[in-house]
Amino acid sequence: MVRDISIIMALILLAAAVYGCREVALPEGDSPRARVYTSRCGICHSPPEPGKYPFGKWKDLLGLMEMQMEKKGLPPLGEKERTVILEYLKRYSKEEAKE
Ligand code: HEC
Repeated sequence: MVRDISIIMALILLAAAVYGCREVALPEGDSPRARVYTSRCGICHSPPEPGKYPFGKWKDLLGLMEMQMEKKGLPPLGEKERTVILEYLKRYSKEEAKE
């Protein structure tokens, strides 16, 4: 009985932890492109908020991150993935430097 309760407690804590990690609410979080973004850019760190940087900076950053992926032995971004990610970032990037 006591054991059952600790299992339930552990599950609750686990659920809270998982939920807590989703602190950044990304724009259109459930859309296919947001999911591509989260799945490719949330491996090594949590996926950064697109509004954090202007688009010009994202373009540079993407190249740096592709180098990081290569270093870690992760599969490189496909042409399509890169396009989807760039479109997503462009749409929600910091206003002033949008191209
Ligand atoms: C292979 C692991 C890995 C993947 C996958 C990855 N990153 Fe990173 N990222 C890093 C590392 C390591 C750093 C810190 C390196 C540094 O500061 O130079 C970093 C830092 C960053 C930063 C700067 C820190 C900040 O929060 O401002 C941004 C922005 C970023 N990544 C965006 C992305 C995006 C966008 C993607 C998807 C295209 C991505 N990352 C995928 C490893 C990764």
